[in-house]
Amino acid sequence: MHDKPDPTRRMLLSAVAGLTLANVPLASAAPATTAVRSNSRILVAYFSRSGSTRVIAGVIHRQLKTDLFEIEPASAYPTDYFQTVEQAKKQRERGIRPALKNSVADIDRYQTVYLGFPVWGTSIPPVVQTFLASHSLTDKLLIPFITHGGYGPGDSEAVLAALASSARREKPLVMECDQERRTTETVKGWLAAVRS
Ligand SMILES: Cc1cc2nc3c(=O)[nH]c(=O)nc-3n(C[C@H](O)[C@H](O)[C@H](O)COP(=O)(O)O)c2cc1C
Repeated sequence: MHDKPDPTRRMLLSAVAGLTLANVPLASAAPATTAVRSNSRILVAYFSRSGSTRVIAGVIHRQLKTDLFEIEPASAYPTDYFQTVEQAKKQRERGIRPALKNSVADIDRYQTVYLGFPVWGTSIPPVVQTFLASHSLTDKLLIPFITHGGYGPGDSEAVLAALASSARREKPLVMECDQERRTTETVKGWLAAVRS
């Protein structure tokens, strides 16, 4: 969907989204939109921080020639992994659903939605919960693909069932992928050892 965006249009959309959505609870925000890439009736929507879920989304997108939509928060998470974990934890504990940067312009046109996300705090990341709460998937086939760092999908399926109760759901692909935590700690340890 925004594989190769028109830069001007993209900037305009981002500016509008930034004005209307940043730091505003979704319910009170005006809807932003995003461009559709092709005429496929299949959408791949995904959230990814460190890239593993994005790789899977790309494979599905290219294999099935689908539209592609990246779920992004209006205010980006910190680049630092540990700060992100803290922020996500606070959002989870307080039930905060961060506003989206963009929404799918015409979700009704899709018959099937592949939804990809990493497990965060043994659940669905808050921003993906925002996506589910703000896009009607009624009567669509919802096919989740879930990545995790070794602890499994947690309550992801139960939350999906609650937030997309009117969709028909396919059994998800659940895949263990790299942990940014492990990479960060390994590199920090190595840096400490090589620096004198
Ligand atoms: C904020 C945060 C919380 C996470 N919580 C979990 C978790 O509860 N269980 C788990 O197995 N992995 C957890 N992970 C690891 C990711 O689920 C895993 O590395 C995933 O494959 C990353 O996908 P991505 O590269 O598409 O972002 C967490 C990662 C982050 C950044």
